[in-house]
Amino acid sequence: MKILIINGPNLNLLGEREPSVYGKKSFDEYFTILQFKLREVELSHFQSNHEGEIIDKLHEARIHFDGVVLNAAAYTHTSVAIADAVKAIQIPVVEVHISNTLARENFRKHSYIAPYASGVITGFGMKSYELAVLSFVELPDKNE
Ligand code: DQA
Repeated sequence: MKILIINGPNLNLLGEREPSVYGKKSFDEYFTILQFKLREVELSHFQSNHEGEIIDKLHEARIHFDGVVLNAAAYTHTSVAIADAVKAIQIPVVEVHISNTLARENFRKHSYIAPYASGVITGFGMKSYELAVLSFVELPDKNE
C-alpha cells in the first residue's frame, strides 16, 4: 500500500509556526515516527506553498499511489482548482487538518475539497495524519 501525504502552504514551518495551534514538531520529525509506526504502509511526503504544484502532484499521485492524505492548509478554504483536481483523480483522497478548523474562525469552516474527499479528519493534532493513513489500512476483522 503506497500513500502520499501532501502538505500545503506554510506547513513547511510546522514546529515553529503557531506552536500552540500546530504543535512543536517539524513535519520531518513526525514523518519519521509515523513511517516507523506504520511499517506496513509505504509513505511518501510532498510539501508545497504553490497551488499549481499541489495540483500537479495530485495528478501524478493517481498513477503512483493507492491514496492521498491531503492537508491543503489555507487552500482548503479558497481553492476550486485543488478541489477539481481531487474530483478528477480516481484514487481516494482523505482531507486532514491538524487543528479543529470547525472551532476556529468562520472562514476556516468551509472546505472546497471535502465534498470530493473520501473523508475528513480534523483536530487531532499531528495524529490526524496517522488516523488518515489508517483509514486506508484494512484492519483484521476480529469476528472472522
Ligand atoms: C490547517 C488549517 C487551515 O485553516 C490553515 O490555513 C492551515 C492548517 C490545519 O492543519 O489545521 O494552514 O489546514
